[in-house]
Amino acid sequence: MKAIEIRNKYLKFFENHGHKIIKSAPLIPENDPSVLFTTAGMQPLVPYLLGQKHPEGQRLTDYQKCVRTVDIDEVGDNRHLTYFEMLGNWSLGDYFKEESIQMSFDFLTKELGIPVEKLSVTCFKGDEDAPRDEITAECWKKAGIKEENIYYFGKEDNWWIAGEEGPCGTDTEMFYDTGKPKCSKNCNPSCNCGKYVEIWNNVFMEYFKGKDGKYTKLQQKNVDTGLGLERMAMLLQGKETPYETELFKPVMDKIEELQKVDDINSRRIVAEHLRSSMMIISDGGRPSNIDRGYILRRLIRRMIRHMNKLQIDLEQISTLIDLNVESLKEMYPELVNNKEQIKNVILEEKDKFVKTLEHGEKEFQKEMNKTRELNQNIINGKVVFKLYDTYGFPPEVTEELARENGFEIDKEEFKKLFKEHQEKSRLGSEQKFKGGLASTGEIETKYHTATHLLNAALKKVLGNHVHQRGSNITADRMRFDFSHDSKMTEEEKKQVEDLVNKYIEMAIPVEKLEMSKDEAIAMGAEAMFLDKYGERVTVYKIGDISLELCGGPHVENTKDIGKFKIKKEESSSSGVRRIKAVIE
Ligand code: SER
Repeated sequence: MKAIEIRNKYLKFFENHGHKIIKSAPLIPENDPSVLFTTAGMQPLVPYLLGQKHPEGQRLTDYQKCVRTVDIDEVGDNRHLTYFEMLGNWSLGDYFKEESIQMSFDFLTKELGIPVEKLSVTCFKGDEDAPRDEITAECWKKAGIKEENIYYFGKEDNWWIAGEEGPCGTDTEMFYDTGKPKCSKNCNPSCNCGKYVEIWNNVFMEYFKGKDGKYTKLQQKNVDTGLGLERMAMLLQGKETPYETELFKPVMDKIEELQKVDDINSRRIVAEHLRSSMMIISDGGRPSNIDRGYILRRLIRRMIRHMNKLQIDLEQISTLIDLNVESLKEMYPELVNNKEQIKNVILEEKDKFVKTLEHGEKEFQKEMNKTRELNQNIINGKVVFKLYDTYGFPPEVTEELARENGFEIDKEEFKKLFKEHQEKSRLGSEQKFKGGLASTGEIETKYHTATHLLNAALKKVLGNHVHQRGSNITADRMRFDFSHDSKMTEEEKKQVEDLVNKYIEMAIPVEKLEMSKDEAIAMGAEAMFLDKYGERVTVYKIGDISLELCGGPHVENTKDIGKFKIKKEESSSSGVRRIKAVIE
């Protein structure tokens, strides 16, 4: 059975049982800054699990796009995915254990045709917070599960909460027996040997865990269930991994066809990270150096490194995206409209990374050899930091590179250096303020940073031919000259202005970096008079919006700038336009 058929059957089944079908929420949570991505179908429903009335009623069902990144480094094995789809059904203070279990049992055995002997279930064994869940076990027996296939486990297995606090409760998990032999006498569903595969989790949410770690009763009893679609498709199709299902097969085959070096793990990483990145970008995610943007950056950069390992021409990313849109569009029609954008974002990120990737890998090789000569196997944190700071290597990528060569990295030292570096750039700008740099007061400093943002925004709106040709700042206004042939339209001006204000609102930290001129060029830094600078240069980095050689000073964070307004756009000289702008 194809994944889409399983999804359709599921929604229909629950609709027939009085549930309203609701839409998948975006992967990027709308009103929840506490999480990076939607990680479960219940997440967008939290207010309703806590008692608010849902406009569609008390019985809901949906398919939810989810991204979980805790296991990102495990991707490449036969089961971990960062993106997956969760089918769910909810009772918001309506049915509870008995009905929920009966519906799950019927769906698995009647709709999907899974023989009852292949099913095992687990229940909560009880502790000081909640009693042993014999009611759940009784319901399973009544539905038709044999007593010997019912297991009891503790909180680590049979208690569910998203994160540290929130609605939670005991759960009952359903497992599919793949028919493999038991790995030991004690082999049971909590074992990871691959005999038992978890397919569905029904959470009986009747508690709330507070910040203080204490449990209180919720005002209503809820059910929250989640069934992993990729896994279910894999099992019903008799496959060993999700990569052999129709969701990944076309792209996996293409990667195999394009590769010059064979490596199954790398193929899986490329296929998985590509799908995940596409889904995140399609829902509005963009690569950056913080939070969810950083996860996306990691996914894309790791994918690129593994394409290199397979010796696949990176231009083929475009082909792989086309192919993925084709094989996924029935499930996610939004990918069709967003295809060009997805391509642009991934290819732009690729361009950024390849500029430094080769140099970075060489640097890594050199350092690895040094480490080896010293008869050590831990790569210095300074090296990890340099690879991050100068060559854009996410530390996780360096770690993976190290492991492939039998080395480890000094993570603690990296973290320390990273912190120190953040601290330094903060202190640096504070001291400058104190010194009151001759003619550079607070307001001029703001204009300086605004100039970098304007330069970046002009490039975005008008194109990459835009470069700074001159600038002049007073306490009252900024003037900025740049290469561009034609008069800007009202709309372009508005777009540029809005974009600068957006960057300001994004509250991006402004970092001061020092490096050699060559490194700055390799990183693609903007520079007006390259020859003017000495061998060591200062580069100001504003998230991934702007990277410019500059003496500063700059504000610490773009949010310190205020509101940006374009006053005038005019010709300066042939092929050069001039913008006058103010900060309010
Ligand atoms: N919230 C539970 C889970 O993620 C059930 O949907 O497993």
